[in-house]
Amino acid sequence: MSTSVGLTPEQARHIVDPRAYAALDPLLDTFAWLRRHDPVARIETPNFDPFWAVTTHAEIMQVGRDKLLFQSGVLPTTLTDQRADQRIRALVGGPHLVRTLVHMDDPEHAAYRQLTQSWFMPGQIRRLEPQIRAIARRTVEDMLALGDHCDFATDVAALYPLRVIMLILGLPPEDEPRMLRLTQELFGNQDPDRTRGEAGLFDPAVGAQQLFEVFLDFSKYFEEVTADRRRHPRDDVSTVIANGRIEGAPISDFEAMSYYTIIATAGHDTTSATTAGAVWALAENPAEFAKVKRDPGIIPLLVDEAIRWVTPVKHFMRSAAEDTELLGQRIRKGDWLMLCYLSGNRDERVFDASERFLADRDPNRHLGFGYGPHLCLGQHLAKLEMRIFFEEMFARVDALALAGEATRAASNFVSGPKRVPIRFRAA
Ligand code: HEM
Repeated sequence: MSTSVGLTPEQARHIVDPRAYAALDPLLDTFAWLRRHDPVARIETPNFDPFWAVTTHAEIMQVGRDKLLFQSGVLPTTLTDQRADQRIRALVGGPHLVRTLVHMDDPEHAAYRQLTQSWFMPGQIRRLEPQIRAIARRTVEDMLALGDHCDFATDVAALYPLRVIMLILGLPPEDEPRMLRLTQELFGNQDPDRTRGEAGLFDPAVGAQQLFEVFLDFSKYFEEVTADRRRHPRDDVSTVIANGRIEGAPISDFEAMSYYTIIATAGHDTTSATTAGAVWALAENPAEFAKVKRDPGIIPLLVDEAIRWVTPVKHFMRSAAEDTELLGQRIRKGDWLMLCYLSGNRDERVFDASERFLADRDPNRHLGFGYGPHLCLGQHLAKLEMRIFFEEMFARVDALALAGEATRAASNFVSGPKRVPIRFRAA
């Protein structure tokens, strides 16, 4: 097995191994080493096509912004091993199980993004504040009703963003458990606790088949929603998708299903991982918790720091449309590149004390939402819902401490805390 000069096979394995993202510290060491010695590193590791790991903040931005040179539609947009890639291509005849914004390039990408973009702008999102605050209050009430301790990740953080997604898609609360399971299976599919059986982590080809089945489940559910919103339009994102037109023609069923899937999933595990990660970090750092209690005005900064700290979306992939050069490395047309957001968010050239969680970090130019044309569509919603949640929670909770071992989910794509046992004192 060959890797770039100096990078050990063990370090190369870290970058692809879901379990390394659960253990975290050795992986962060590998990224620190890469930023210093080999910031655009050729990774050749068993079972994966070779790819370039882009680990520095500046170069991640450079690749993210150049939509003509670095494309999303041609190769898998997330790290996919060779067997899973073959299985997906056999199932659907291309590299993508679904076709969402993240799998598109211009001009299609711009057209599809345009459909919902205005719905997600800050002005529109702020209109939802009273409803979102009511959901946050209810979630905090439920947490306090548990007594003085809980597993914050599963008892609280997993539910709140889901309720917000149900609100924006206009779906009834009784469908929550089904949506919870579906989105967790779709994103947590590398962690055996969250898959349909044990196989997902160890047999990626089976994992691909499971993903396909999850998507079919999603499709069945949203077929009814589409039919309903075509007959009875409402003020929700489902109505915008169901009645969407691209260049004058109605959006196809497959593309509508893909759109629901990304809205339903992209805003769920990401936000709950960030919320749980913030509470974990504050429970471990009483001085940072004290800052938030002293001045709740810093909560927007806390939200950004939590996104940087957790970086729930660990990477996205691009492919090179032409031969080019990046930090002296010759990239060939068709090469696959991994934007290592987790590494960019620890880049010591951009963040002072990048290895510390600072609740009031300012400025904070994190790349947690990506960068360039694919910059997270839901970023304003995500920030608003977390700000509101923390305002409500920290008004009601006076003390916080870990009450057992906190753990992370194993996934190299979307991952974060799996269990965060805490003890708390109500205000
Ligand atoms: C903390 C929460 C979140 C994080 C960290 C996050 C992160 C990201 C990242 C890194 C991308 C870039 C993809 C790329 O580089 O190709 C992205 C795209 C996207 N996100 Fe988020 N996201 C979050 C919440 C949300 C929410 C709440 C929604 C909507 C309900 C959402 C919807 C989307 C969509 C639709 C895209 C695709 C945009 C495009 O390709 O044009 N996200 N997100």
